[in-house]
Amino acid sequence: MHYFQYKDGQLHAEDLAVADLVAEYGTPLYIYSASTLKRHFKAFDSAFDGIPHMTCYSVKANSNLSVLKTLAAEGAGTDIVSGGELFRALRAGVNPKKIVYSGVGKKDIEIREALFAGILMFNVESTQELERINAIAGELDMVAKISLRINPDVDPKTHPYISTGMKENKFGLSRTEALSTYALAKSLPNVDPIGMDCHIGSQLTKLSPFLEALERLKTFHGQLKDMGVTIQYMDLGGGLGITYNEEEPPHPEELGKALVESLQGFDVTLILEPGRVIAGNTGILVTEVQYTKQNEDKHFVIVDAAMNDLVRPSLYGSYHRIAPVREGNGEEMTVDVVGPICESGDFLAKNRTLPKVVQGDLLAAFSAGAYGFAMSSQYNSRSRAAEIMVQGDKHVLIRKREVYNDLVSLEEEGLAKLDELNG
Ligand code: LLP
Repeated sequence: MHYFQYKDGQLHAEDLAVADLVAEYGTPLYIYSASTLKRHFKAFDSAFDGIPHMTCYSVKANSNLSVLKTLAAEGAGTDIVSGGELFRALRAGVNPKKIVYSGVGKKDIEIREALFAGILMFNVESTQELERINAIAGELDMVAKISLRINPDVDPKTHPYISTGMKENKFGLSRTEALSTYALAKSLPNVDPIGMDCHIGSQLTKLSPFLEALERLKTFHGQLKDMGVTIQYMDLGGGLGITYNEEEPPHPEELGKALVESLQGFDVTLILEPGRVIAGNTGILVTEVQYTKQNEDKHFVIVDAAMNDLVRPSLYGSYHRIAPVREGNGEEMTVDVVGPICESGDFLAKNRTLPKVVQGDLLAAFSAGAYGFAMSSQYNSRSRAAEIMVQGDKHVLIRKREVYNDLVSLEEEGLAKLDELNG
């Protein structure tokens, strides 16, 4: 359920006409619905009400400060994977006691920053990382709370690039290695193992992989107990999928019910790290048709949004629903919707049947709230899009459109020095 609906033939974001927002801010334009965002967070979080739990929104999905602040006000914690995400979360007012820090490559400086911030725990992904955290916490005379990310070797049945909990993936520790690493953690003075963690993949459309992973964690929990390691937090990661096209992922309520039931009798706080299911359907990317043309049998609709704005179709072959901002008159065409970037991989949709569009029409790509702007770049020296957040009949520009100067500002100094060097 989201608040992007047609009223009188015009697409609206909550109570505002998308075309009016475009008239003010131009295209390409990301538009988010604050009511949808809050609704998705509440629906997810309340699904776990039966047990102690914490919902740590995965910042990587959409890291805009206003998105983070809106979620923090609803009580969300965050899952972060970099010093930059920590910086954003703190800037947005997220309670550090609700921050978990995942990722395979944490650097010294990032570990130090997280210790200073007083985060809830590090999700540690290797023995070397554990040793590094112990050493840095020791230097600072602190004790770092940690969990180990266990690779449960469960097939999440999703795209191989976003499958993370199988033994061939780079993430986490095998269960055998995790046992010896917990033993090591217990013996080290500056780390305190308080949690277990796993994250098996993203855009999961079935319950069974989550339950399988949880079963493995539960067994592991017992083994740790026998070793004298008391676990307070069980972090099951994120990964719940959304409907882009015809997928039918379980509703958060179903996931909640199943996990709550499975954890009866376990004295742990469940942590979840949802990203896509919170933010995905809260955003659209609006683009303007620049040209239409036909080559051989193919019809192309050339729009002003490209793979630098929304890379998912190019990178994963992902489907995003595309629809005109003003409803069509019934005439249809099968087209490729492509951007202006100089690569044939630059497309938003292929062989898509859409209402007939002409130059100047606006199109919306749906489900672009997660891994949309967050994965955008300046490739082809394209300034990144503006972002708007709508609530009811009000809106806020939550990120200005980049200008040409943003493309070069970090290079100016080098340019001047190069001139000096060349005399
Ligand atoms: N926790 C960890 C440790 C993760 O690595 C991820 C996502 C999440 C939580 C959140 O997963 P979610 O609930 O959003 O599925 N760029 C890809 C998705 C990459 C996901 C990476 N990790 C895409 O556009 O589909």
